[in-house]
Amino acid sequence: MFFKRLVLSNFRNFRDLSWYPYRGVNIITGNNAQGKTNLLEAIGFCTTGLSFRTSREKEMIKDGTNSLQVSALLERNGVEDDIIVRLAENSIAEFRLNGVKQKKNRLFLPVMSVSFTPADLDLIRGNPAGRRRWLDTEVCSFEPAYAYHLHNYNRVLLQKNNLLKEKIKTTGFSEILDSFNLQLINYGSRIIYSRLVQLGKMASVLKDLYRELTRGKEDIYYKYLSSVPLGDKLNIEAITFSLNSAIASRSLEEKNRRQALVGPHRDDLQFYIGGMDARRYCSRGQQRSAVLSLKMSAIKLYHREYGEYPLLLMDDVMLELDEARQAGMAGLFALPLQSFITSTAVPENFPRDFKTVKITNGQLIEGER
Ligand SMILES: Nc1ncnc2c1ncn2[C@@H]1O[C@H](COP(=O)(O)OP(=O)(O)O)[C@@H](O)[C@H]1O
Ligand SMILES: [Mg+2]
Repeated sequence: MFFKRLVLSNFRNFRDLSWYPYRGVNIITGNNAQGKTNLLEAIGFCTTGLSFRTSREKEMIKDGTNSLQVSALLERNGVEDDIIVRLAENSIAEFRLNGVKQKKNRLFLPVMSVSFTPADLDLIRGNPAGRRRWLDTEVCSFEPAYAYHLHNYNRVLLQKNNLLKEKIKTTGFSEILDSFNLQLINYGSRIIYSRLVQLGKMASVLKDLYRELTRGKEDIYYKYLSSVPLGDKLNIEAITFSLNSAIASRSLEEKNRRQALVGPHRDDLQFYIGGMDARRYCSRGQQRSAVLSLKMSAIKLYHREYGEYPLLLMDDVMLELDEARQAGMAGLFALPLQSFITSTAVPENFPRDFKTVKITNGQLIEGER
């Protein structure tokens, strides 16, 4: 899949930008704080409805304005689609596909961008929130309704936490709490289910790619650590039941600690390499290879399901990787995928032809380096 045209308005430091990117590798150069990462974030936002940088999406609206818009002319399997995503200060993101407003304010099209940032390199040893954000972005691309469930879950979660923090003595407290819990159980069980399905699909692809990349014999696998006791059965009904009982059984503790303690917002992923807990016992190098394989497995899986490659967004990451891992990435550039790579300088010996653009203070100039 390719973006043939990209138009931004009031997206972070871009007031307006119209760009016809190259179908292959686009290298985006420029000094610090000029808008390189912002541009990648906009591309990602347009495909997933999520930011790879922040969960406070309103931050993306340009200071001093009250709404942003990103639109793209997208080509997938030879078919063109026009996507528009708008985000206003006091509402949720709104998607239009070929002029038609999308149900549930989400794009129900399997479009995907795989982002790769320096922060991702810490995915395995970093905090659970980072792993959840990665997983959420991943699932969104394979299951477009997911973003909608997630958005609603987070909205109700915020309300529940406010209630527990400040309104425990309000009349009707229990009824309000019950109604929040019902909604959290509904959205939360779908979220957990979709995460488990996606992780199930990815496991073997990841294992093969990791072995290839490290030319080793070590296996990589992961476990989904849930705050909800989950049995072996993978179905929504069973998860709904468990989430319901878990919330009920910890309700007193939630009131005492004044926060919601169970649900997908407390879940995590644990990686194992060669049988060892990767977070604690594996080297920085092994962890980085694992992250690289994770990203590549998303690309492979997407291609397997849709016969197309997703967009690749690489933010300042080339210079961070050592030679072996850069070589591991070179295989990616042999694929016919459209990529957007930011760097303060044009990388030497880049393995494929590319075009450059330079960003200066929210303006883009083609052909500059
Ligand atoms: N909502 C916003 N409105 C206006 N400017 C913003 C907004 N968010 C970030 N910026 C500006 O964007 C710039 C950083 O852009 P970024 O893409 O991170 O830079 P880099 O080129 O180093 O990747 C900073 O100057 C910051 O002030
Ligand atoms: Mg940057």
